[in-house]
Amino acid sequence: MAIRTLYVCLDMCQNPQKTRQQPYLPDFAQTLITWQRQHGRHGLPWQDTRDAYPIWLSEIMLQQTQVTTVIPYYQRFLERFPTVADLADAGIDEVLHYWSGLGYYSRARNPHKCAQIIISEYRGFFPTKQEILETLPGIGRSTAAAIAVFAAGEKAAIMDGNVVRVLSRIFALTDTIADSAGKKRLWNLTESLLPDAGIESYTQGLMDLGATICTRSSPRCPLCPFTDICRAKKENRIAELPLKKAKKSLPVRETIMPVILSGDHILLEKRPEKGIWGGLYALPECPVIPGKAVEASVMQYMEGLGPILAFAPLNPFTHTFTHFRLNITPCLVKTRKPSKIAENQIWRRQDDALALGLPTPVRKLIEAIGKPYCLL
Ligand code: ADE
Repeated sequence: MAIRTLYVCLDMCQNPQKTRQQPYLPDFAQTLITWQRQHGRHGLPWQDTRDAYPIWLSEIMLQQTQVTTVIPYYQRFLERFPTVADLADAGIDEVLHYWSGLGYYSRARNPHKCAQIIISEYRGFFPTKQEILETLPGIGRSTAAAIAVFAAGEKAAIMDGNVVRVLSRIFALTDTIADSAGKKRLWNLTESLLPDAGIESYTQGLMDLGATICTRSSPRCPLCPFTDICRAKKENRIAELPLKKAKKSLPVRETIMPVILSGDHILLEKRPEKGIWGGLYALPECPVIPGKAVEASVMQYMEGLGPILAFAPLNPFTHTFTHFRLNITPCLVKTRKPSKIAENQIWRRQDDALALGLPTPVRKLIEAIGKPYCLL
């Protein structure tokens, strides 16, 4: 297909009022479908099924996490919760345990809620229509489309970071989803490109092209089926596209995280349901007293809890959330068990603690206890 022809097509789908004819768009889809069947990813654990439950689970897990990371979590999760009813019946703590490590904990609360809705409102039958899926917790327009495509072959458009990158480069688009007009144009484009047949391979192809060929840095252009028509390549603008959002500098918060030990027991605190790490078990946090050494802040925190029998600072590190950075100063504190602890606190041995739903940085700290460098 001539490059110019595709640009004309693009102009049509971005300005649909200009003309309703889109004569060459099927070629884009067909090229992608043929490429996916020959060179795309096959044999991923959530492929080759039409069961919406595992498909839904994979799409939720894959929302912001890479395939290689997701696979073992997906398999363990399905082994423990093989049906939507098993998930709906489980306690949230256990669900969080199977999810923890994937980050974004609200993504584990939503599936649990969603499973309960499927049981109570859909008699255990997972919906497969994009329109219905979109109404369920944790399922946005693109995720609903992916599930509807893979579970029912519905002609529905996905649009995630990978898709935006692929289309922005091929068509040299400067729209971003950061503004609503740009987002609307991108949705119009993705919808106008959909094929009438082979929607599963087409959708998987867009995902595969973005993940394996048209990558953010060092794309493998010679292997791309659109290499001859890619406008970004032709105009030497691959590094520039897609346009990046201006990076806002994230606010920084400080916290001290004492690993409080009594014998071989560690003091843990269940986090409130709302807020970061909601519902997970974490280490207590003690406020930083400005201008004071860490030990002084910890001493103040330990008042009423127990005597400090030993204290050792550990290396500080930073954990980045979507809206802020948390500078964490961990330390080890040995104490004697007080007779009373707060209602949301528990003492656990290291192994038992590691079986709970823990945020990743907390898990790493607890795993480190007893290792040689840990000064214990
Ligand atoms: N990313 C999002 N959904 C995916 C899928 N079904 N396969 C591979 N990567 C994906």
